[in-house]
Amino acid sequence: MSTLVTGIAELVTNDPSRGTGRLGLVTDAAVIVEDGTVAWTGSRRRAPAADASIDVGGRAVVPGFVDSHTHLVFAGDRAAEFEARMSGARYDGGGIAATVAATRAASDDTLRSRLRGLVAEMRRQGTTTAEVKSGYGLTVEDEARCLRLAAEVTAETTFLGAHVVPAEYAGRHEDYVALVTGPMLAACAPFARWIDVFCEPASAHAFDGDAARVVLEAGLARGLQPRVHANQLSAGPGVRLAVELDAASVDHCTHLSDADVDTLADGSTVATLLPGVEFATRSPYPDARRLLSAGVTVALATDCNPGSSFTSSMPFCIALAVREMGMTPVEALWAATAGGAAAVRRPDVGHLGPGARADLAVVDAPSHRYLAYRPGVPLARALAPDDGRPPTGS
Ligand code: NIG
Ligand code: FE
Repeated sequence: MSTLVTGIAELVTNDPSRGTGRLGLVTDAAVIVEDGTVAWTGSRRRAPAADASIDVGGRAVVPGFVDSHTHLVFAGDRAAEFEARMSGARYDGGGIAATVAATRAASDDTLRSRLRGLVAEMRRQGTTTAEVKSGYGLTVEDEARCLRLAAEVTAETTFLGAHVVPAEYAGRHEDYVALVTGPMLAACAPFARWIDVFCEPASAHAFDGDAARVVLEAGLARGLQPRVHANQLSAGPGVRLAVELDAASVDHCTHLSDADVDTLADGSTVATLLPGVEFATRSPYPDARRLLSAGVTVALATDCNPGSSFTSSMPFCIALAVREMGMTPVEALWAATAGGAAAVRRPDVGHLGPGARADLAVVDAPSHRYLAYRPGVPLARALAPDDGRPPTGS
């Protein structure tokens, strides 16, 4: 069964053969989708015949957003913590404990319906692939169940037992690292592709470079691939550790030394920027221009979580990246699609060349530029043909 998608005023293909950062634009375009895969893209006038057709009515079509960093398995909210920050309180990760308590107390059904609701909310805003982390359970059983639930909606599941040291291990960080790298990792590895750690020596709640290395190396030994939360609150060892271990991505990168930027430029680790965090913690934004000028591959992600960034909207992050982080609309869209795909090492998403997954997002506008040009307006949505399928891909 093939479907012709037509009426595309502007198609963003992100054709990888044109190189990093190139959108591969086609105007007055068409796409042929066959069995969930892109079979053909090009000018509408040259489109081959298909069994069915969808007319998107003169709108732009872009690759579905690849949100490579989310924490969607949780219960409760932290609206009061957000309000306190907007009155001057600082973010240091301490509030994570409140979400851990709420998540431990929640039933599977509660967590599942919250998770699926957020995934659907993302899809309505154009996101078709999402990585999902654990990290609000922090016991063997609760981390494993959070990952089991995450695996119901995505293949990109990340074990984040080393999110913070939970209250019952206060003053016993080494014992907690032993739990994470021992029984917790054993219980979680069957449900996870990735291992992550919040490497932030400046936070009393997170992990220093030595502990982060122990966690990531234990994950590697179990066949999990590393990714790292680093350099969010201060410059530290996390970025260099991530590159040394060939992590797919190092995320936040808000505070970077010149050596960090050089290390990223020489390695293959993607720098994933999370502007929703700087927005919601009233912090200085990372300097994306500095990274791009150095030749670093940059991704954008929402970091959707109840504490530091409770947005599921990639278009909002694109608008912030353009306005606040020195990115052009082209760079921001590439980072939210192909950049995200690079950050989860998925060659089948983030572009719309033949053979890619048919994850199309329609922008209710004639051009992709409107994503940043009309901030806060719900223009993007995932295209419907795959509506019955779990939205985050496997
Ligand atoms: O990516 N920095 C650590 N972890 C999350 C925040 C989690 C939370 O505050 O609940 C982040 O920002
Ligand atoms: Fe995060």
